[in-house]
Amino acid sequence: MRTTIQDLAAMKRRGERIPMLTAYDYTTARLVEAAGVRLILVGDSGGQWMLGHPTTVQVTLDEMVLLTRSVVRGTSEALVVGDLPFMSYGTPEQALTSAARLMQEGGCQAVKLEGGRAVAETVRRLTDFGAPVMGHLGYTPQSVNVLGNARAQGKAAGTARRLLDDALALEAAGAFAVVLELVPTDLAHAISTRLHVPTIGIGAGPGCDGQVQVLHDMLGLLEDFIPRHAQRFGNLAEATKTAVSDYIAAVREGTFPTTAHAGKIAPDELAAALADRP
Ligand code: KIV
Repeated sequence: MRTTIQDLAAMKRRGERIPMLTAYDYTTARLVEAAGVRLILVGDSGGQWMLGHPTTVQVTLDEMVLLTRSVVRGTSEALVVGDLPFMSYGTPEQALTSAARLMQEGGCQAVKLEGGRAVAETVRRLTDFGAPVMGHLGYTPQSVNVLGNARAQGKAAGTARRLLDDALALEAAGAFAVVLELVPTDLAHAISTRLHVPTIGIGAGPGCDGQVQVLHDMLGLLEDFIPRHAQRFGNLAEATKTAVSDYIAAVREGTFPTTAHAGKIAPDELAAALADRP
């Protein structure tokens, strides 16, 4: 059975930390779930790391539906949250249409969107119509052209207060969890203790109820990119390149494939097939 938003609320009540990871395709979603993750985000960051878009602004709803559907097919126990992409939730009506596509065609059980009080009414409408919503505050990558490149948010009293009020507004509107991205540790902790729903941090310190990381960052798949908030728990870029160069060498040297990698034909069948084809 899949994890539910009620399970997540219970984890917060029990003080149990919530590990969340992104996944963007069937194969890695299977691995992430098999390793024990029960909350998966099909982030629009997948548009960057799977499709090569420069930022999340270029990611479309069609692309998110495709990525989400493949993750859902690869999982049976995780709660899958699909990211509503840039400008797909500008009005509550548009958000309902977009969430319907992501949940019906993509198959996810919840959606995520960026913003605070400006999207509270949208969060309320989505929740009322049966779409659970995860909020996303702090550095919001879809606003890269407004905010500039990734940097901490809420470092001054005024902006910190606005972040807290935004978080409270999202909770009041029905959000079941709130991502806090690049928020100072003590502020993220203060927000986490004031909300009843779980906070999920990324670059927001250990005081959040859960943590989310981009899979490609923590697996070390992006050789030239290690954001400050990430830690490499593996080095799959290196492992992949080593495996590929071993393959190239084996093909060149003739040590792969061997006869064990292909089927056999009986000698008399082959002789008969070649009889009049010298
Ligand atoms: O798209 C994404 O990966 C995200 C996380 C950074 C939270 O939104």
